Amino acid sequence: MNTLIILKNGRLIDPVNSVDAQVDVWIKDGCIAGPGDSIPVDALVYDLDGKWVVPGLIDMHVHLREPGQEYKETIESGTAAAAAGGFTAVACMPNTNPINDNASVTRFILEKAVGAAARVYPVGAISKGSNGSELAEYGEMKMAGVAALSDDGRPVVDSQLMRRAMEYASSHNLLVISHSEESSLSHNGSMNESVVSTRLGLKGIPNAAESIAVFRELALAELTGASVHIAHVSTGDSVDVIRFAKDRGVRVTAETSPHYFTLTDAAVEGYDTNAKMNPPLRSELDRQKIRLALQDGTLDAIATDHAPHSVLEKSVEFDHAANGIIGLETSLPLSLALVRDGLISAGRLVELMSVAPARILGVPGGSLAIGEVADITVIDPDRQFVYTEETIISKSRNSPFIGWKLQGRAVLTLVGGRITHNGL
Ligand code: DOR
Ligand code: ZN
Repeated sequence: MNTLIILKNGRLIDPVNSVDAQVDVWIKDGCIAGPGDSIPVDALVYDLDGKWVVPGLIDMHVHLREPGQEYKETIESGTAAAAAGGFTAVACMPNTNPINDNASVTRFILEKAVGAAARVYPVGAISKGSNGSELAEYGEMKMAGVAALSDDGRPVVDSQLMRRAMEYASSHNLLVISHSEESSLSHNGSMNESVVSTRLGLKGIPNAAESIAVFRELALAELTGASVHIAHVSTGDSVDVIRFAKDRGVRVTAETSPHYFTLTDAAVEGYDTNAKMNPPLRSELDRQKIRLALQDGTLDAIATDHAPHSVLEKSVEFDHAANGIIGLETSLPLSLALVRDGLISAGRLVELMSVAPARILGVPGGSLAIGEVADITVIDPDRQFVYTEETIISKSRNSPFIGWKLQGRAVLTLVGGRITHNGL
């Protein structure tokens, strides 16, 4: 821990400090240190040969399944998968069993996360049991350490309850993360409503099921002055609504996930349950609009919505399969494709995957200035690999990207100067 670590000959990409240059990074006592005059003999020196050195990636939307569904994922296995994917911190959603709607569950998660391979920021529930009828105790959860509030997995159906949640949350300086879904429209649907759903004979979920709910949240954020973050944006219509609200000065931020800018509902053909998630994969037009929104800033962050499920929940009829896919180990390579395609710069990628999540959650990170805690990701943008079941670190295997040849991955991850993943 006290050993000096030197990352030599890397390309330091640190947009907050306007750095994109070949700079050696010295890590001492868990923090970024200024370069010394000479290199001590016991220093750990890595010659990075132009690989990227970036502020630790932060995934602000994951499901760790502990407590209650440890057969799918645990805090230990989920953070190990995070480290392997280049993440130094994750925010975990409250839809565990029991739901994280009170201080004792929050404390349980934080205790389990001590010494884990990534920092863990628990998100508390908006309503007790996330069942939408009564607000949870925000002051108590904030004291215990929640970073934000969400009923993710389910929408808050009652608009008056959501209004009160925003008022109460902002009085505790807590962000509300919205799972935006108009359930009267999505009810019983298992994929995007499109020619594909018609052909497959599956009940569809129209785009409006998301954008109507997004519009409600933004109207309520304007009414209450609260900060709201829209989770897992899947449609171009939601992007338009968010852009409209941002132009009006509403305090809104939003994320999308790699599957929404990589795949379309065509992936459901063949009834592949690893292409089933909520919200569902959409059309090519939606995919294009999401990509442009990542470029123009309407979307602030990339988050995985890492949702581990076992074969018990996935190897069943499409209608009955659980929603969600794992994402921690594929997020970075899929996002690097945006840089290779010339859509965004490497610096913008760092904003989307580190700077913005830290700022939105109000947690440390996103900067590699001298004195900052050494949460660092080293990326080899050229490394190619085939994503196979055997190499997955997560406890679950539910990914539509298995068998894909991917390019670019994290080769070294450090949390507070501690190496949590080394694939150099
Ligand atoms: O696909 C999803 N999976 N969407 C959600 O909203 C919840 C998540 C889960 O917990 O599995
Ligand atoms: Zn989620």
